[in-house]
Amino acid sequence: MKNISIIVAIASNNAIGKDNDLLWHISKDLKRFKQITKDHYVVMGKRTYYSLPVQPLPNRTNMIITDVPDEEIDNCLMAYSIEEAIDKMDSSKENFIIGGGSIYKQFMPHANKLYITRVHKDYEADTFFPEISLDYWELIYEQHIDNDPQNDFTYTFEIYNKK
Ligand SMILES: NC(=O)c1ccc[n+]([C@@H]2O[C@H](COP(=O)([O-])OP(=O)(O)OC[C@H]3O[C@@H](n4cnc5c(N)ncnc54)[C@H](OP(=O)(O)O)[C@@H]3O)[C@@H](O)[C@H]2O)c1
Repeated sequence: MKNISIIVAIASNNAIGKDNDLLWHISKDLKRFKQITKDHYVVMGKRTYYSLPVQPLPNRTNMIITDVPDEEIDNCLMAYSIEEAIDKMDSSKENFIIGGGSIYKQFMPHANKLYITRVHKDYEADTFFPEISLDYWELIYEQHIDNDPQNDFTYTFEIYNKK
């Protein structure tokens, strides 16, 4: 059984992206993302891969999911289905699903931990994260950030375990 975690930043209206880009810039969140995922596998859809400012993400094993048969991307592992991605994951460590919308949805049933950044603001968007039901997920960590001078909104770092 693979150890699968989802890491994502979500607006109050569940928005996560628009025009294949993020909706905000939160340096503290990027720092947290780097710390948590460093030296691990990061698994993503092809649209998210091409939205990254640096490709592939350094100091991590990047795995890209695509439907295009035999497509290869330099210095990345490829998977052509969700099942193949799970099969190729690291058995000894946490594996991080880093987006985007379609990939998060498909991995929700397979994940056992969620690292959520709740951005306390609504955004117009074309990509959304599914509802996190407390019937299935237990909040185990919460840190409110309400004094970040770089952002005009507050946000909360949360961690959930699958019940
Ligand atoms: N807020 C956050 O934390 C966060 C994090 C990451 C991304 N995002 C945002 O999310 C948005 C991108 O999400 P998205 O849903 O448009 O794209 P995506 O999930 O990143 O990638 C979609 C692509 O993944 C491949 N794919 C998906 N499911 C597959 C399957 N079952 N088998 C094989 N290939 C599969 C397909 O690639 P092919 O077309 O090559 O077949 C598909 O076009 C952007 O706006 C991005 O900024 C937000």
